[in-house]
Amino acid sequence: MLFTVALLVVAAWLYSKYCHTYWAARGVVTIPGYIPFLGHSHKLFRTSYPRWLYIDEVYKNLTGSKFCGYYDQLTPTLMLMDPELVKTILIKDFNHFADRRNFGMTSKRDETVKEMLSFSNGDHWKRIRSVLSPIFNSSRIKGIFPLVALKADALVDYIHREIKSHSALPLRKTFALYTLEVISSCAFGVETNSFQGEEQIINDMADKLLNVSGSRFRNMKTLLFFLFPRSCSFFKISFSPPEIVFFENVIMETMKQREKGGKRGDFLDLMMEAREDQKDPDLKAPKYPLKDVTIVAESILFIIVGYDTTATTLSFIAFLLAQYPEQQQRLRQELKNIVKEYGTLTYQGIMQAKFLDACISEALRLHPTINFVERICTKDYNDRHIEYLKDGMRFALMEVKLALAKILLDFEVSCAPGQEQMEFAKSFGSMRPSPDMKIVFKPLINCEQ
Ligand code: HEM
Ligand SMILES: *[C@@H]1O[C@H](CO)[C@@H](O)[C@H](O)[C@H]1NC(C)=O
Ligand SMILES: *[C@@H]1O[C@H](CO)[C@@H](O)[C@H](O)[C@H]1NC(C)=O
Ligand SMILES: *[C@@H]1O[C@H](CO)[C@@H](O)[C@H](O)[C@H]1NC(C)=O
Repeated sequence: MLFTVALLVVAAWLYSKYCHTYWAARGVVTIPGYIPFLGHSHKLFRTSYPRWLYIDEVYKNLTGSKFCGYYDQLTPTLMLMDPELVKTILIKDFNHFADRRNFGMTSKRDETVKEMLSFSNGDHWKRIRSVLSPIFNSSRIKGIFPLVALKADALVDYIHREIKSHSALPLRKTFALYTLEVISSCAFGVETNSFQGEEQIINDMADKLLNVSGSRFRNMKTLLFFLFPRSCSFFKISFSPPEIVFFENVIMETMKQREKGGKRGDFLDLMMEAREDQKDPDLKAPKYPLKDVTIVAESILFIIVGYDTTATTLSFIAFLLAQYPEQQQRLRQELKNIVKEYGTLTYQGIMQAKFLDACISEALRLHPTINFVERICTKDYNDRHIEYLKDGMRFALMEVKLALAKILLDFEVSCAPGQEQMEFAKSFGSMRPSPDMKIVFKPLINCEQ
C-alpha cells in the first residue's frame, strides 16, 4: 500500500519534471524559480508582492529577450516582452490567438459573467463582439461626448468645492467618482450623483463588485480559479461576487423601462438597437440576436473594465503632471490653443490634441494599470478579422482626455508635501496608487486664454 502511494508520488513528480522541460527542450530561456507541480504560479500567492512587480522583475532581469518561458502549473506559457511581437499576436495573427483563459464556471451565479466578452471564447465571443463593435465606432463616441462632458464639468465643480476645506485631495478616490459617474451614465443611464455624496449605493456596490481594496478571501478565490479551474467547476464555486445580482436587477429593470420608451443614447440603448438590427430580414451576416443575459452581462462588464482602470489611469497621469510642471504647462498651453481655435472644448479639438495624447500614452507605458493580457493559442480561424481593443479604448481615451483638459484649464496640479514620489497599493491584481496618495489642486486665475 505504502509502496503504491510512494510509486504514485514519484510518478507524479517525474511527470511534473517532464512537463517542466518543455521550454528548455525548445531552447527558450525559462524564468528561474519554478517548483514541481505549481511551476511559477506559487509566486502569485504573495499578497504583499503584487503580480505586476513580479512581471516587472522578470522583464528587467531578462532585458533584451523577446520572450521567455513560464509554467502556469504544468502548462507551458510563453511570456512576451517585445512590443512588436505582442502586436503581432494581438492584431496580425489574432486569428490564431483568439481565446482567453477558460475558468470553467458552473455556478448558477456565474451565468451572467460567462456571457461577458472577456470571459467568452470561440464563435460565441466573435459573434457578440461583431454585434457590439459598432456601438463604439467614432460617430457613436462623438454622440456620447456630451454625456461625458457633463460629468467632467461636475468633476471640476467638485474639485472647486473640495479644495475649500482640504489642502490636498485623494488621488484615486476623486477620479473614481468621475469614472463611476461616467460609466453608469453612459453604460445604462443611471445617475449616481456621486459628487453630491448622495445615493452611495451604486458606488458601494461597484466598489464591492471589484473589491478595489482587495479582500484576502476574494483574492484567494480568484487564485483558486486560476490554479484549479476544474475543481472550482466540480464544486460549483461561484466566480462572481454576490453584488453582481444587484447590478443584474438594476439593468434588467432599466431595460424593461427602455422597452416602454425613453431612450437616452447610452450603451444600453445601443445594444438594444443592435439586437433589433439583427431582426432585419435583409441582413447578410449570420444573425446573432443578443439575449437579455448578454446585454446585462456587457453592461456589467463596462463597469468592471471601465471604472477602476480609467480612475487609476487618470490618477497616474495627474500625478505625473504634478511631478513635471513644465510638461504640465506645455499641455495647458496646447489645450488653451484648442479652446482658442474651436471656441470651446469640442470632441474634434480634444481628439486632435497631440501632446495630450502623448501624455496619456506615456503614463500608460510607465504605469499600465492592466499589466498582463492572456491569449490561448487556438487553431486556424480563417474568416473575418476583428481588430482587437480599438473600440473600448476609443471611449476610454475620450473620457480621460476630457477630464484632463477640463482640470488643467482650471487648476494647476502639484504634489502634496511629502508625497513627491508615487507609492503603489499593495494590491494583488492591477497597478494602483496607494489609497493615501493625495494631490494639490490650485485654481488658476482664468481671465485670458
Ligand atoms: C484607461 C483605461 C482603460 C485601460 C487601460 C483598458 C485596458 C484594457 C485592456 C488591456 C483590455 C484587454 C484585456 C484582454 O484582452 O484580456 C481591455 C479590454 C476591454 N476594454 Fe478596456 N481599458 C480601459 C478602459 C475601458 C473603458 C472605459 C471601456 C468602456 C466601457 C473599456 C472597454 C473594454 C472592453 C469592452 C474590453 C473587452 C474587449 C474584448 O473582449 O474584445 N475599457 N481594456
Ligand atoms: C532576478 O534576478 C535576481 C538576481 O539574479 C534573482 O535573485 C531574482 O530571483 C530574479 N527574479 C525573477 C523574478 O526571476
Ligand atoms: C457607426 O455605427 C452606426 C450604426 O451601426 C452607423 O449608422 C454609423 O454610420 C457608423 N459610423 C461609422 C463612422 O462607422
Ligand atoms: C474589500 O475587502 C476588504 C477586506 O475584507 C474590506 O476591508 C474592504 O472594505 C472591501 N472593500 C470594499 C470596497 O468593499
